Amino acid sequence: MCGIFGCILREGQAVKLINDGLKRLEYRGYDSTGVAIINNNQMEVRKDKGRIEEVITSLRILDMPGKIGVGHTRWATHGAPAMENAHPHTDESDSIAVIHNGVIENYLELKDEMIEKGHIFKSRTDTEVLAHLLEEEMKTDIGLQGAMLRVLRRIKGSYAFVVLSTYEPDKIYCARNESPLVLGVSENGTFCASDVPALLPYTNQVNYLRNGEMAVLSLEGYKIVKISDGSEVERPTQEITWSPEMAEKQGYTHYMLKEIHEQPTSLRNGLRLQERYLELLTQFLDRGKEVFLVAAGTSFHSCLAGSYLFSKLARLTTFPVVSSEFMERYGSTVGIDSIILTVSQSGETYDTLKAIDHARMRASTVLGVTNTVGSTLTRVARAYLIQQSGPEIGVAATKTFTSQVMVLSQMALKLAKTRGKLSQDELDEYDQKLHMIPDWVEETITKNEERIKQLAEENMNEELFVFLGRGISSATALEGRLKLLEITYVPSLAYPAGESKHGPISIIEEGVTCVFVCPRGETHSHIIGSIMEMKSRGAKILSICEEGDEDIKRLSDKVVEMPKGIPEELSPIVYITPLQLFAYHLAVLKGLDPDMPRNLAKSVTVP
Ligand code: F6R
Repeated sequence: MCGIFGCILREGQAVKLINDGLKRLEYRGYDSTGVAIINNNQMEVRKDKGRIEEVITSLRILDMPGKIGVGHTRWATHGAPAMENAHPHTDESDSIAVIHNGVIENYLELKDEMIEKGHIFKSRTDTEVLAHLLEEEMKTDIGLQGAMLRVLRRIKGSYAFVVLSTYEPDKIYCARNESPLVLGVSENGTFCASDVPALLPYTNQVNYLRNGEMAVLSLEGYKIVKISDGSEVERPTQEITWSPEMAEKQGYTHYMLKEIHEQPTSLRNGLRLQERYLELLTQFLDRGKEVFLVAAGTSFHSCLAGSYLFSKLARLTTFPVVSSEFMERYGSTVGIDSIILTVSQSGETYDTLKAIDHARMRASTVLGVTNTVGSTLTRVARAYLIQQSGPEIGVAATKTFTSQVMVLSQMALKLAKTRGKLSQDELDEYDQKLHMIPDWVEETITKNEERIKQLAEENMNEELFVFLGRGISSATALEGRLKLLEITYVPSLAYPAGESKHGPISIIEEGVTCVFVCPRGETHSHIIGSIMEMKSRGAKILSICEEGDEDIKRLSDKVVEMPKGIPEELSPIVYITPLQLFAYHLAVLKGLDPDMPRNLAKSVTVP
């Protein structure tokens, strides 16, 4: 996720509005900042690593004259936070400046093509390729609009692009595919931004650019055209009635709720991993004598799910371990042939970094999955994958959990292919289902949110919850319980359901709520047995099961029904969403702030 703001003004200096706009978008990313302005037909770009305030001050950006400009606040996806990777990116003649939010999937092949044509790249980003492609097209007489359309038709992936160019110094071009971009017009000018809060000081009449559309902004307003055929699109504006505070959360009452709802998008981005790095990581995993999956909190639950995925799909045994226990448990045995796959949203968790230090000292190979390019993890790991969730502001991890499991699923499938453990038909089927997951998550949230709110109301005064699941669903149960515990403070337990009779069952009595995670699959018949054990001791049963699963419905007091056809191995990514929503709504009903639970920090960087 990144923040974009562009404006064309009748009066005043564009940089002043860009500065204000970017500050309102800072929640979208904050590792680098940059602006491009055109004044007297000359383009000037100033950019650097650092937060908006720092960069604006140190580069004296507010002194830049000009009535047309674009700005960007970055959340790195390709290339570490650094001056050369900050946006805008320019072509070789500095006549085209491009800013971008999203991930270009086919940038490596396009970049190779441009390099062959003699272009020299200044950054390690995927974005820069667009500036070079446009420069190449501008060598013909097709004009900037034609060049934009031609280039956009070649780009695969997600994007909100904004282009400023001295070829047409009074216009801004922008385009969208899956990353947001909103347009607005005021008496003083025309604007585009990643999100409504940046536009609200100037107008509350906006037009959301849709996938596959390009817009041309000028002082007269904007024209929207379809990228596929260049035809014009007429669409009335929408009135925004949110307060500025609500607008920052896109109308949601809390960041946590916004981030739960963002999962279909973050998961689509999580499917756009760089093939080259996916291949590299799986090669290391395949070569290791032993593989440890090391992480803390929610990221540990992703590892737990990962251990089932590696075992079931790729037939690889892995050892999931919480970071703080790694040294005591395996510190004296890990060595040169060990692989340590670490998973950390922030890439800065103290316990995880300590485990990495130790593993490196013992000459083990350290790999990483993280959400934060440029974090310590990305600097010390031999190779890493970026999970592409975008910044997560709510303290409780939600979208970053589902993205991590999405990445680990793709690693397990790639490894299964390399090791020859699944047939091509099976691989194709899993791949197809993996690509259906964002839609399944969307469907789950849309269909069930009201019902879950009602369940939270009914369970408002419960004093204990027990979460149970079998197989990979024990990871879902643990993560569902962690969400509830973190933000509602209600005591709760989570166990692999089969283990519950070896102790935890003693606390079950009349009326205790047991939450069962029961996808269809190999564990289905066993979970039925576990439900009966709890039910016969008076527990109230709340089950998350597949739509039309009569066996589970018959035994349960309440159910949340999930879409049909989700393979058990991939189920945590979808089945966790009702549990995230349940925890969220219960916390709100209790008058608690789910974004800032007591005693917790987003990133734990202390021992
Ligand atoms: C739970 C949560 C924490 C983090 C844990 C690890 O909602 O947010 O448990 O998962 O502190 O953080 P990362 O993934 O940054 O290493």
